[in-house]
Amino acid sequence: MKSFPYFFTWSKQKNASHFSPVKSKGSTVYTETQKIWDLSSVSFQASFGHSPETIITAIEKQLKEMPMASAKATYPLKDQTTERLINYIGSDSGKIFYTVSGAESVENALKIARQFKKRKIVLARQVSYHGATLGALSVTGDWRNPPHLTSSEWTVRIPEPKDDPTLSKTREVILKTGPENIAALILETITGGNGVIIPPQQWWDGIQKLCQEFDILLIMDEVICAFHRTGIPFAFKHFNIRPDIITMAKGISAGIIPFGAVWVNDKISKFYDDEILCCGLTNYAAPLGIAALSAVLDLVESPKFQKELNILIQYFHQRLNSLASLPNVLAIRKIGMLAAIDLEETISWDVFIKENIYLLSYEKRIVLSPPLNFDLEQFEKAMDKLEHVLKKFKSEKL
Ligand SMILES: Cc1ncc(COP(=O)(O)O)c(C=O)c1O
Repeated sequence: MKSFPYFFTWSKQKNASHFSPVKSKGSTVYTETQKIWDLSSVSFQASFGHSPETIITAIEKQLKEMPMASAKATYPLKDQTTERLINYIGSDSGKIFYTVSGAESVENALKIARQFKKRKIVLARQVSYHGATLGALSVTGDWRNPPHLTSSEWTVRIPEPKDDPTLSKTREVILKTGPENIAALILETITGGNGVIIPPQQWWDGIQKLCQEFDILLIMDEVICAFHRTGIPFAFKHFNIRPDIITMAKGISAGIIPFGAVWVNDKISKFYDDEILCCGLTNYAAPLGIAALSAVLDLVESPKFQKELNILIQYFHQRLNSLASLPNVLAIRKIGMLAAIDLEETISWDVFIKENIYLLSYEKRIVLSPPLNFDLEQFEKAMDKLEHVLKKFKSEKL
């Protein structure tokens, strides 16, 4: 097997899965010999496909006018786009801290929460992924955490929603930890890569109440869910949650420019009027990212996009409902354009790619997050192909 001079992520390097794309258009990636449908928006970030024209044009324009700017720079596009982002969140106050990735958004959210509260501990779920930097990994609970020996003094796990529907055990964890030591609770609104787990409304109501009762900040990690992935701007709106801090990345720039953002509420933002915000990045508020975000907001706020997205979601859910009866399928969880399929037996990523489908797979689970503007005819073909693989695997053991 050929060896490469660069690493592949999250893999043993020997025989790591890979493929060789040469170009991409819409929701399709081409190799020399294959046309591959992208059913996962790469890693959730290509929310508007691989060649979103208006976003690329906005980036190109910015590249010619002012490709780079100091963190101290103020200019109309930055000011207006940030106001629009705050409105898109559904707020008229608070502030944005810009970053370059989801992990950096989580990292800065944790730093701000700890600095604001002057408390050290952050509560988090075991079934979670929040990014690969040490801070973000310290709250991550999945298999990617243990090898990095992150500081266990900083994180306390709360029980999973299914194990604590009334949150009585979570209350015990808070009391045992001492609320005076807890800065924040961080949660993915919908657990994304770890299986699209959608906690029930009752659990969310309980979480909101506990955070209020014990004066704990609620950080919603919307890195996957924001920008309409679940059919609406932010997933926390499905549950009437009032976060204090929101982390964003991926779809924020359509995945074309590395970019991210953290929103903090008014109280936290005012705290920093007279306090040094001890956070910063060389590429803070990069103009190419701001330009991409501005074009993303134009896109998601257009009635055409929203109408077509609703049609796509309806079709996606119909197809998922029919996959549910296949012998190899144990369970399907879905919300908007995000779904997980639990399989009886593992089908490896290499099998799907051979069959011209790009998706995220880990052991006996696949996670689907197709581009939000997938051409419907092409999407039908991609879903036909997925159905074919799921059926064929069971009958022939690919
Ligand atoms: C919920 C969530 N938060 C944070 C991250 C980290 O984002 P990034 O890989 O851009 O650092 C991810 C990445 O998949 C994620 O799924």
